Amino acid sequence: MNKRELLNVSSLNTSYGKAQILHDLNFQLQASEVITIVGPNGGGKSTLLNSLMGLIKSNAIIEFDGEDISNTPLEERVLMGLSLVPEKRELFNAMTVQDNIELGSYRQVLFNKNDVASSYEYVYQLFPKLKERRLQIAGTLSGGERQMLAIARALMSKPKLLMLDEPSLGLAPLIVKEIFQIIEVLKKSGVTILLVEQNARAALAVADYGYVLEMGHFSLQGQAQSLATDQRVIETYLGFGKT
Ligand SMILES: Nc1ncnc2c1ncn2[C@@H]1O[C@H](COP(=O)(O)OP(=O)(O)O)[C@@H](O)[C@H]1O
Ligand SMILES: [Mg+2]
Repeated sequence: MNKRELLNVSSLNTSYGKAQILHDLNFQLQASEVITIVGPNGGGKSTLLNSLMGLIKSNAIIEFDGEDISNTPLEERVLMGLSLVPEKRELFNAMTVQDNIELGSYRQVLFNKNDVASSYEYVYQLFPKLKERRLQIAGTLSGGERQMLAIARALMSKPKLLMLDEPSLGLAPLIVKEIFQIIEVLKKSGVTILLVEQNARAALAVADYGYVLEMGHFSLQGQAQSLATDQRVIETYLGFGKT
C-alpha cells in the first residue's frame, strides 16, 4: 500500500502563560493510519490535540495534507478536514441527538450538499443506537451514548483526520469495549485517527504506532505492538490492576 503523509508536525511547543507544557514535539501520521498518544494525567495529551486543532496557540510547523497550516485559524482547519472529539464531548444538551449530529455536517453543506444524506446513513449505520434515539434530548443520554454521539457528529464532516481525546474516559468497561470496537471499524474503513488515551492497553491494541507523552516530552515511541510489550510501558502503564 502506498503511504501518503497526512500530518507532519515539527517543533511543537505550547505554553500556558509562562508554563511551557509541550516541549519540541515531532511526529508524523500517514493517511489511514491510527496513532495513539498515551501517558499519565497532566502529561499534555489534551494540550497537544488542542494545539493541532488550533484551539490554543502553539509554536509549531504543521503540515496537513500537503499544506502548511501552522498559522491557519481553527475554523479553516475544520474546513480542511481536521476534526476533534474533545475530552468533555461538548454536546448541545438541550437539543436532540439528530440536531447535534446535523451540526457536524456544515463542512459537507458548504462543499457538497448532496453528501449530507449519505453522511447520515454512514453514522447511523455505525451507531444504530443513535438512530433509535435520534429524537431524544442529548442531555438525557448515558455516558457511552454521549461519546458515540460526539464521534458521530465529528464523522458527519467526513474528516481527513479524526482526533479523539480520551474516548473511554469515565465509561464502564463494557462500553469502553464498544467504543474501541467502533474505533476498529473506523480504522478498517480507512479513517485516519489520532487517538489520545490513558487506557494504554486498549489504545495500543488498536493503533499502528504509539507515543508515550510524559511531562510534555515523548519518552518512548514505536510500533504499537512493540510498545505494548515494552517492559517500561508494561510496568508503568499496563501493570497489574490497570485496564
Ligand atoms: N488552560 C490551562 N491553563 C493552564 N494550564 C493548563 C491549562 N490546561 C492544562 N493545563 C496544564 O497543562 C498540563 C497538561 O494538561 P493536559 O494537556 O490537560 O494533560 P492530559 O490531557 O495529558 O491530562 C497540566 O499540568 C495542566 O494542569
Ligand atoms: Mg486530557
